[in-house]
Amino acid sequence: MLFCDVSGSTGLGERLDAESVREIMLGYFGEMRRAIERHGGTVEKFIGDAVMAVFGVPVAHEDDAVRAVRAALDMGDRLVELNAQFDERFGVRLAVGIGLFSGEVVAGDASRGEALVTGDAVNIAARLEQAASPGEILLGEPTYRLVRHVAEVERVESIDAKGKSEPVPAYRLLSVASGRSESVRPAGGQMVGRTKEFGALRAVFSDVVTHRGCRLCVVLGEAGIGKSRLAAEFQKTIAATVVYGRCLPYGEGITYSPLAQIVKQAAGIRDEDSVEAARSGISALLASDPQGSRIALVLAQALGLMAGAASSEDIAWAARKFLEALARDGPVVVCLDDLQWAETGFLDLIESTAALSSGLPILLLGLARPELLLQRPRWEALRLEPLAAGEAAQLVVELADLDDGTRSRVIAKAGGNPFFVEELVAAVVEEPELELPATLDALLSARLDRLRPIERLLIERAAVEGEVFHRGAVEALSDDVSGPSITAALDALAAAELVRPAQSSFAGDVSFRFRNILIRDAAYRGIAKKVRAQLHERFANWLLEAVGERVAEHEEVLGYHLEQSYRSLTALGNADAHALLVAGRAAGWLASAGRRAFGRGDMAAAAGLLRRAASLLQVDPPRRLELLPELGKACRFAGDRTGAEAALREAVDQAATLGDRRLMTLSRVEHTFMRLYTDPGVETEDAIRVAEEALGIFAELDDERGLAQAWALIGHANWLLCRGARMEEAFTRALECTQRAGDPREQGWVLRMLALVYYHGPTPVERAIERCEDIVRLGQGHGAIEVSTRAKIAGLEAMRGRFDIARELYLQCRKVGEEFGLGPVLAALPNYSGPIELLAGDLDAAERELRTGFEALQALGETSTLSTNAALLARTLELQGRLDEAERFTILSEQKAAADDVASQITWRGVRARILARRGRLEEAQRLARDGAGIAARTDFLVWRGEALLDLAQVLWLSGDAAAFSASAEEALRFFDAKGHVVLRDLTRAVIAKPVALGTA
Ligand SMILES: Nc1ncnc2c1ncn2[C@@H]1O[C@H](COP(=O)(O)OP(=O)(O)OP(=O)(O)O)[C@@H](O)[C@H]1O
Ligand SMILES: [Mg+2]
Repeated sequence: MLFCDVSGSTGLGERLDAESVREIMLGYFGEMRRAIERHGGTVEKFIGDAVMAVFGVPVAHEDDAVRAVRAALDMGDRLVELNAQFDERFGVRLAVGIGLFSGEVVAGDASRGEALVTGDAVNIAARLEQAASPGEILLGEPTYRLVRHVAEVERVESIDAKGKSEPVPAYRLLSVASGRSESVRPAGGQMVGRTKEFGALRAVFSDVVTHRGCRLCVVLGEAGIGKSRLAAEFQKTIAATVVYGRCLPYGEGITYSPLAQIVKQAAGIRDEDSVEAARSGISALLASDPQGSRIALVLAQALGLMAGAASSEDIAWAARKFLEALARDGPVVVCLDDLQWAETGFLDLIESTAALSSGLPILLLGLARPELLLQRPRWEALRLEPLAAGEAAQLVVELADLDDGTRSRVIAKAGGNPFFVEELVAAVVEEPELELPATLDALLSARLDRLRPIERLLIERAAVEGEVFHRGAVEALSDDVSGPSITAALDALAAAELVRPAQSSFAGDVSFRFRNILIRDAAYRGIAKKVRAQLHERFANWLLEAVGERVAEHEEVLGYHLEQSYRSLTALGNADAHALLVAGRAAGWLASAGRRAFGRGDMAAAAGLLRRAASLLQVDPPRRLELLPELGKACRFAGDRTGAEAALREAVDQAATLGDRRLMTLSRVEHTFMRLYTDPGVETEDAIRVAEEALGIFAELDDERGLAQAWALIGHANWLLCRGARMEEAFTRALECTQRAGDPREQGWVLRMLALVYYHGPTPVERAIERCEDIVRLGQGHGAIEVSTRAKIAGLEAMRGRFDIARELYLQCRKVGEEFGLGPVLAALPNYSGPIELLAGDLDAAERELRTGFEALQALGETSTLSTNAALLARTLELQGRLDEAERFTILSEQKAAADDVASQITWRGVRARILARRGRLEEAQRLARDGAGIAARTDFLVWRGEALLDLAQVLWLSGDAAAFSASAEEALRFFDAKGHVVLRDLTRAVIAKPVALGTA
């Protein structure tokens, strides 16, 4: 209760006219009311010149008393300003006295217009006010006790109050500390211990600075052990730009969320900025980088600021370049918190950044709970152990003044976990006799149980959004609570150190962060299922509104909340029409996010999101069916065969049941596609038949995407059959369809297959080079397409004898591949550079190239490219005369090569035949060489055919069969000629003219 009266107002009426008095009093009442309301109080009524106000009605907070004393001081300050005006205009000054008293009051129901507050506290407050001399603020005993931690007071003479037998003790208020110290709960303690860990981090940091390199270091430790705090304290001690990204516990889906936070932070982007503004913010940071616009483009796509199919590799590249751009101005520390929740794709990004970035000081400081090790066992890790007993004791002393017994109970219970320490201390401060809960979770729940109902309600609603939440969201979930009460409750939660103010990502909104996510989890656990359903849905609606046009970045989050809403509803057995609506909306967002993940090649995330979407659509078979072919495909690329098989089988059956021709055909094509590569029982010809039938149906339905798929299936079947001409036709058609359908991801795959066929197939070298150059242009900006196609151009240039160009090209490929971190593409590169050196006649260089590739492929655990690499290595060694080694590689190739891996099957046979022939085992040699040539003869891959015949010719020459030798070599010549393979054509001509050269060629 606050009473304030004008002690110098009498006589005012005599000196001034009524009009002026009225003006003065209105000015005075207005200012006083504003001062009271500013501190969360409510003016009850004006009694004559007196103001009666209450704090904590209708809703009480821990710090009502503090608010009231602040308001009282504020009123005094206002009055000084008012008096200056009054003096000037009317020649009067007002003086007021204020009385404050805390206690139970009976409040009327405001909604029924009852505003009166009655009770002892009211009377005593009024008495204190009367006793106060002008300018004095008097507090009663209970108020004093509530504010003594922030207020400075002076004991004055007790006063008599009506109905009180004892005089009432009174205190004069002198000052109130400003700032956050009003907390009744101890604020976070000083940092204790961790000297060793600081040392270790500093050592890593100075290594990064002196060697100007990028290093990854993760701090591991259980929840609440102090990882985030350690990182925060560490950052204060170093001179570096610090950026911070936190992984969200939403489970699968939001791969690049931490990257988005980092980029937005560094570029100063806020959530309500327009897409345009956000993009130019990123570009501005990269202005001095020659590749700046490209980096900005890819990042904008990764963040969902623009549509586009930047691949995961491109995104990793752009992220690295972005950090490097920041590091040009000085060391950068990238703090990556809660990595145990990171998506695989993001962990890959971190790894590749650490591996590929060099020359600039970047420290990737990860923080994670120990389970991260399950995913990345080899990461350099610093274990954060519990605090030593002495350190924990120090922390307790730091936090509160406890008696010895309580202190040791707290230390023993907390087990060296500083968060547990903090919570235990807070609990015993609030309730000294408290039986200490055994676990942190129980403690947190108990703590929340002791909150005032309004605070409890709001902290639960806040927990719905997550570790960081917005006031706007809490408001949207609380139409049953008034704005000022929300402010007051959030302030109280902050004062109780449960939440802390955080940087808001929406202008005009305020945000908070739970001091620790465990508090958030405990609050969330407290929400009843039924309420959860509503809250998640309302949150999604709020978010949708709040993000405006930038919805793409938030699809996963929207999907997640609606999904949670639906799951809570069904858990209660409420699968009504509304629930289905929610499920449908959730599925829509998740599917859209899944498609975006698919578009950038993040297949694990895509499969996860699409699966969740499909699972929500159990109740809506037609929409579920729409997703299944895509889900199947994502699973296939993510290496989940079982998942793919299940999705596609269901799709085929379901489409038949629903009579959806388009989806039935699409599912069948997709299913055949998958089986083509995984099921040896599938006949390639059958696959082609399925695809041809599909072509007819899609043409009828005018479905370009479907047509693209069907053509691609035909192309792939012909690739397995090594029928280049048909393959070229099919992929050319597929390309046209993807272009018309505007499907860049699909187009990327088609382009890579086309490059493959121009290299191997019957297209003559000159034209093949032109076509490959077209492909590089079409795949513009896609690193993997660029590198793999240029490698083929290099090989083709070598075929026409331009070795310098070829070498320059493959070296350039290697540089770009390294720059983009294209591991698999790089490992396959020697399968082009090796043959180039072979053709150039530099056998040592060929060996060097191929051996590098061999090791890289082995490290990747890849076998199909490896078997070809081994065969090429065998060829090189045979030409060097190292027959035993060569033979070993033919055996390796034979063992690793799949039956349909025609290149390996032909090459290892040809090389082994040559070895056997040189060892005099002519019959075996001839048989093998003929087998190889026979396999090649089924294809129109001209170079393979020519090479197989040349190997056979060699064997025949050593067998002394000159006629067969000539026939074979002549035939080989025709193939090389047709391909425009100048080098082998000339070589073959030479050996025909002078056969003896062949033995060493
Ligand atoms: N060495 C320390 N000295 C004093 N207080 C500490 C110390 N370490 C941590 N704390 C406090 O303990 C609480 C929990 O720490 P923090 O949030 O860093 O834990 P965490 O390991 O990041 O947990 P989580 O895995 O849940 O994120 C914080 O309030 C923090 O301020
Ligand atoms: Mg943490």
